[in-house]
Amino acid sequence: MQQRVFSGIQPSGVPTLGNYLGAIRNWVPMQDTHDCLYCVVDLHAITQFQKPEDLLRQTREMAAALLACGLDPERCILFVQSHVPAHAELGWLFNCVARLGWLNRMTQFKDKAGKNAENMSSGLYVYPNLMAADILLYKATSVPVGDDQKQHLELANDIAQKFNHDYGVALFPRIEPFIGATAARVMSLRDGTKKMSKSDPSDQSRINLNDADDDIANKIKRAKTDPEPLPDSLAELEKRPEARNLVGIMAAVTGREPAQVLAAHAGQGFGQFKPALADALVAHLSPIRAEMARLLEDTDALDAALRRGAEKAEAIALPILAEAKAAMGFLPRR
Ligand code: TYM
Repeated sequence: MQQRVFSGIQPSGVPTLGNYLGAIRNWVPMQDTHDCLYCVVDLHAITQFQKPEDLLRQTREMAAALLACGLDPERCILFVQSHVPAHAELGWLFNCVARLGWLNRMTQFKDKAGKNAENMSSGLYVYPNLMAADILLYKATSVPVGDDQKQHLELANDIAQKFNHDYGVALFPRIEPFIGATAARVMSLRDGTKKMSKSDPSDQSRINLNDADDDIANKIKRAKTDPEPLPDSLAELEKRPEARNLVGIMAAVTGREPAQVLAAHAGQGFGQFKPALADALVAHLSPIRAEMARLLEDTDALDAALRRGAEKAEAIALPILAEAKAAMGFLPRR
């Protein structure tokens, strides 16, 4: 049997270049080599307030973006998390397995909550338990993600192990993160030490997959950089976060290694490099934007594809949820 892959993305905005290069781009080829489930995780998105009309629109936009990037409902299972209630149910079971001490160590909660932890939803706190449920509900073993999700996957393994141990079963497998070699962490265009995020208040900090060509060019033109020309060695580049980020993006969208990008552009100032980068991005992203717009014209077809995805996902999930509940001693409904 092929290895099973699961990954998810929150419909908390339009997907960014970070989501694309760090995750989605790696999801596409896995369709040929693995059994893949890809999920628009709306239950995760509401851990931070979403206006209802925004959540509805963003869920469809996210699905359309994933299809436009090359996911194919004939070769993967693409669905919306809330359409398969078993996610929430296994998430609850895992709330009772994960320890508070484990959740207290999660850096993403600390980053998102800042000084305002008391005022965050309790959902944001137990978010990683639901994420573990997403993956283990399908006994998936390979999870393609960006670098920022590594700690959550370690927690998912802790939950799986504790569940198996406490209930004396070998139900849940070990999960391996799959993190790409280039662009696993795309940084903000305004600050090379912060990751590019769909929820950053500044739209200038990110490239959205539906940005117009002019917007892409302008955002790259205004991206923060330093006054030095590009170096000829990776060691020199390491010390310059903004330059390193732009070189990493160029490498990822043109299918090269950062060293090859430096070999081609060393000695150039950003006045020369940025237009080349903008051209490469536009060439890569404009077909995706056009396909996304086309798919969003027919929301009935899109919704139907998502419904079929949910049916296929649920058929895999329900027997596994039943196994977990039986192991825990729940009285079956007869
Ligand atoms: P989310 O929606 O924040 O991001 C989706 C994917 O994009 C990656 N990513 C990035 N990669 C590189 N550079 C960046 N700047 C960048 N920003 C985001 C993320 O690592 C992720 O792979 N918790 C997840 C969603 C989730 C999930 C799951 C993932 C829920 N259940 C189960 C895997 C398996 C999240 O917030 O992703």
